[in-house]
Amino acid sequence: MSIQLSDGRTIPIEMHKIRIVQKVRLPCSGERLGAMEQAGYNTFLLRTRDIFLDMLTDSGTNAMSDNQLAAMMVSDDAYAGSESFYKLAASVKDIFGYEYLLPVHQGRAAEHLLAKVFVKPGDFVPMNYHFTTTRAHFELAGGTVLELFVDEALNTQSSDPFKGNLDPAKLKAAIDQHGAEKISFVRMEATTNLLGGQPFSMANLRAIKEITSAHEISLIVDGSLISENAYFIRQREPGYAQKSITEIIREIMDLADICYLSGRKSCSVRGGFIATNDRKHYEAIRPWLPVYEGFFTYGGMSSKEIEAMAVGVREMTDVEVAGSSADGVKYFADRLIEAGVPVVTPAGGLACHLDAARFLPHVPQTQYPAGALAAAVYLAAGIRTMERGTLSTDRARDGSEMLSDLELVRLAVPRRVFTMSHFEYATDRLAWLYQRRDLVGGLEFYEEPPVLRFFAGRLRPLGDWSQALIEACDRDFGGGC
Ligand code: F0G
Repeated sequence: MSIQLSDGRTIPIEMHKIRIVQKVRLPCSGERLGAMEQAGYNTFLLRTRDIFLDMLTDSGTNAMSDNQLAAMMVSDDAYAGSESFYKLAASVKDIFGYEYLLPVHQGRAAEHLLAKVFVKPGDFVPMNYHFTTTRAHFELAGGTVLELFVDEALNTQSSDPFKGNLDPAKLKAAIDQHGAEKISFVRMEATTNLLGGQPFSMANLRAIKEITSAHEISLIVDGSLISENAYFIRQREPGYAQKSITEIIREIMDLADICYLSGRKSCSVRGGFIATNDRKHYEAIRPWLPVYEGFFTYGGMSSKEIEAMAVGVREMTDVEVAGSSADGVKYFADRLIEAGVPVVTPAGGLACHLDAARFLPHVPQTQYPAGALAAAVYLAAGIRTMERGTLSTDRARDGSEMLSDLELVRLAVPRRVFTMSHFEYATDRLAWLYQRRDLVGGLEFYEEPPVLRFFAGRLRPLGDWSQALIEACDRDFGGGC
């Protein structure tokens, strides 16, 4: 929720109080340089002890509620038939309206099962945009991902409220070109992560559904950030201002044939699920659940997580929960824009995104500008961010670089974790870095894994720019501690 102050400013306001906290520490500039070198200039390989503000992701890092924690105390650990599962199934039925539930240990496990059942070699999988794990699973199954986003999606300086829309004309053309029988399904990702947390509109989802039903193609929603997408529809789409988040989620789910999600985001707990009302789909996926995940009533999750998810699914429909990250992102993005720092607009869900292509125009894509910027942000401020650009895009099958459509650095705003002073500090140091952007150079791999290389790859700076940046920090902030 946001509130207007008497001086006209709008600020995000916390509709909760914080009663459990985790201590953090701001390491000195020399420590930051040492930690970055040890991590191979890959923010995934940093240790928490060396991080001040962890803005890597909202995945599994949203603050849990007292009611979620309380629910974990009464979980039923039975291997089969656990009552905890039936509580989750009841929550999913009430909020999503789906009868059949397949729990999995996290979102990518759902993608693995969907790929196993639906994606055949030579198939095409149209979607508004890929997510890293999504593409990996669908391509490993022999499919080709078709990204049919609207043209505005790649404009990082846009005011289009629904950059996560899938272009209906491109979808029709793809079906005509490849034939409906070659389409595994159409995937719509809520609050499209790699486009900068951009939502799709209900009108767009309805238009896509019309096309998929005419061709008897299934429509699958990735609902990992479903409550944020519903929050944006409520804020931005005509006719939805008076609807509840639950009503909007239900309307989305009535259009979809299957929804899967990573519970680590929307539900504020580790886990995930696939849900549907289509018995045929359910029965096709179900046999694989005990093979890859676990028995039908736990699917790789612990019973404690299942209990917390049963509560989380209901709590995410509270408008103050659904909007807590989005309101923080908006405030943070507005402060950065005031300071002249290039960020993706409109502000989306889950994170504020720096546009590394505009921040570091002198670094070519083959030298990973977003990866270099993520490293520079850590060196300058002790803030851990995530590269979302060419480094996060694996090479093509022939080994050539696949240059990413966008070069973004994600400053994640997990729900109910950061305060206004954290945003003020981050804004100040990012503005400082932007003024010294010429100091920052590119990166090159010295260890490059073949799949999802961004998780474990190690890189080195081209030239001695990291040293120069630390020296500038020392001059201006006296060691930066
Ligand atoms: N789909 C979307 C849209 C996601 O954002 C994620 C994860 C997944 C699927 C996979 O789920 O991690 O539970 O296996 N996103 C995380 C992130 C990793 O940092 O944005 P998972």
